[in-house]
Amino acid sequence: MAEMAARDMAHAAASLEDLRAIMEVFDGCPLKRTATRMVFADGNPDARIMFVGEAPGRDEDEQGLPFVGRSGRLLDLMLGAIGLDRTSAYIANVIPWRPPGNRTPTPQETAICLPFIRRQIQLADPDILVCLGGPSAQALLAVSEGITKMRGRLVDYDTGTRVIRALPTFHPAYLLRTPLGKRLVWRDLLAVEALLAQGASPQSGGKSG
Ligand code: URA
Repeated sequence: MAEMAARDMAHAAASLEDLRAIMEVFDGCPLKRTATRMVFADGNPDARIMFVGEAPGRDEDEQGLPFVGRSGRLLDLMLGAIGLDRTSAYIANVIPWRPPGNRTPTPQETAICLPFIRRQIQLADPDILVCLGGPSAQALLAVSEGITKMRGRLVDYDTGTRVIRALPTFHPAYLLRTPLGKRLVWRDLLAVEALLAQGASPQSGGKSG
C-alpha cells in the first residue's frame, strides 16, 4: 500500500521542489519516524551528472544534506579528481531518511522509497547517473549482481522520459575501508569524464543536446 501511495505521489510531483514537499508530508515510510530530518539532495539539479548513494548516515541526518560526513569528503575528492564539485553535480540517495543506527534498509523500505528517487532522477534529468555502491545499483538498475561484478560496466537507464547512461561504482564508505578499491574507482571516474566530454547521452534531447 505504501508503495502504491509513493508511486502516485511521486508521479504527481511536477518539479523537484514539488517532489521534496510531497516527500516531506509522505508518511508511508517507517524510517521517517526515527530520522531527524529528510535528506533530499545537494548540488546542482541542472548538472549533467547525478550521483545516488544508499541512505543518509548520522552527519547527513543532522545536516539534512547527503554525503557530508567522512564518505562525503571522499566523494568530494572523487568529484574533484574529474573537475567536478557540488555546483556541477547533483547528489541524492535511494532512501532519504536515515535508518536507525545506520542499519541496512529493508527491501520493503527500499521499495517504498524507490518511486521517489526514480522521479527525482527523471525531474533532474541528468545525462549520466552514477550509482554509488551495490544497494544503489541494485535498487535503480534492477540487477542482483554484487558491486564488484557490476562496477565499471556502463548500462542504460530509462528515466521514463529518455534513456541515459548509468555507471555503478564503489561507494566511498567502501573505499574508506578498502583503499585498494580506489584504483578501480579511478578508472570509473575517467570513464565518467570521457562521457561528459563526449556529450554522453545515447539519445539526444537531454542536457547534452
Ligand atoms: N552514505 C550514503 O549512501 N549516503 C549518504 O548521504 C552518506 C553516506
